[in-house]
Amino acid sequence: MAYDWDRLSVPASLPWFEEKWARRSDPHCFSGVWRFHELLPFVPVADCVTIGEGQTLLQCSNGVAEYVGVSSGNLYLQYEGMNPSGSFKDNGMSAAFTHARFVGATRAACASTGNTSASLALYCCVTKLMRAVIFVGSGKIAYGKLSQALDYGALTVQIAGDFDDAMARVKEVSSKLGIYLVNSVNPFRLEGQKTIMLRVLEALRWEVPDWIVVPGGNLGNSSAFGKAFYELKELGLIDRVPRLAIINAAGANTLHRLVDEEGLVWNGGRPDARLIQKFYQTMDSEGRRASTIASAIEINRPVNLEKCLRALDVCDGVVREVTDQEMLDAKAQVGAGGLGCEPASAASVAGTKQLVQEGVIGRNERVVCILTGHQLKDPTATVAYHTTDQQLFNDVLGKRGVRRAAFANRAVVVPNDLDEIIKAIQLYS
Ligand code: F0G
Repeated sequence: MAYDWDRLSVPASLPWFEEKWARRSDPHCFSGVWRFHELLPFVPVADCVTIGEGQTLLQCSNGVAEYVGVSSGNLYLQYEGMNPSGSFKDNGMSAAFTHARFVGATRAACASTGNTSASLALYCCVTKLMRAVIFVGSGKIAYGKLSQALDYGALTVQIAGDFDDAMARVKEVSSKLGIYLVNSVNPFRLEGQKTIMLRVLEALRWEVPDWIVVPGGNLGNSSAFGKAFYELKELGLIDRVPRLAIINAAGANTLHRLVDEEGLVWNGGRPDARLIQKFYQTMDSEGRRASTIASAIEINRPVNLEKCLRALDVCDGVVREVTDQEMLDAKAQVGAGGLGCEPASAASVAGTKQLVQEGVIGRNERVVCILTGHQLKDPTATVAYHTTDQQLFNDVLGKRGVRRAAFANRAVVVPNDLDEIIKAIQLYS
């Protein structure tokens, strides 16, 4: 989506946006998305839907800095789990929902690995403006997320299949029944997600960091981030763009394979479509399906692949893959520093560690890792990591190649006996 900026009023500098905070009793100035309306002006601000999204935090984490190998004071975590539905999706949903209402939609649908559906369901139930229809793969969604959609009253359709099956179906069904589709194929979603980068810049006093590191699933975030920086640079609001690192799960590594093994590039807007098609054909003929503990990014065919190639081009980006083991260890380190995140989010931290080891990210560079979803989204993975129950560990993690929990905080098992309890506390504290 391109704007005719010459005909719009764009602020002369980014700090101008800070004035809006003084007017936070106005919901559009309180919203961490619509506070930046001048940079996503696709409908008048009065028509923008908000439920208070985007009140997020950029935390400087020295514990995580030490873990990944960058110098103290240079590692930041952008906590998108603080959104109303507990993930970054609310940034994009407020924008897609706004557009849906603008065009008069009464029902909205999405396929989801859980967070998009939780977000859509929440916007529908808070505003009562539309009915949510969500498609999920059976057994492919963490309970924290499923419980949200159910609680919020969404019509929940469980497909016998995975995310990609659900995605294919929701496209068919929404076009047949005239239901508005809010997956990140929807360009308005990406407009909302641009504001994650605006809030990062704001928290850094408008200084551009050296690196943004983000998990890659459907590649909506990475595409949106690239667009945000491209536009800010074009508008003269920043003088350089950060580098972008997109981190796949090793069990769902389409982007990594296409970019790093097959050499796929943006190519001035003409990426090699035949290469992509051939890759998917081989994937299907070999029966390869995404499989990772990070269910949020367990995706075979990322819908924003091409836009993401553009973001890599704009931001001199790199792609990496990390194992489930690496993600869970990184997640434990994030949790140990407070707030915590779900497994997919920790890909950004695990990926940073890898890039520092390779020397791609310098020790003294300023790095922002995006934590896309709240820790409570997927309690099963967290409990299995810390458990003393070997069976549970094996059932949830062992079968995915996770061998150890280096940072486990194990519960101390004691008989229900006062002396024994006191003895245990004295021993371990
Ligand atoms: N992290 C979390 C917590 C997610 O829920 C998702 C995507 C991603 C990362 C990947 O982001 O698609 O922009 O590359 N979840 C989608 C969903 C697919 O249905 O909730 P992306």
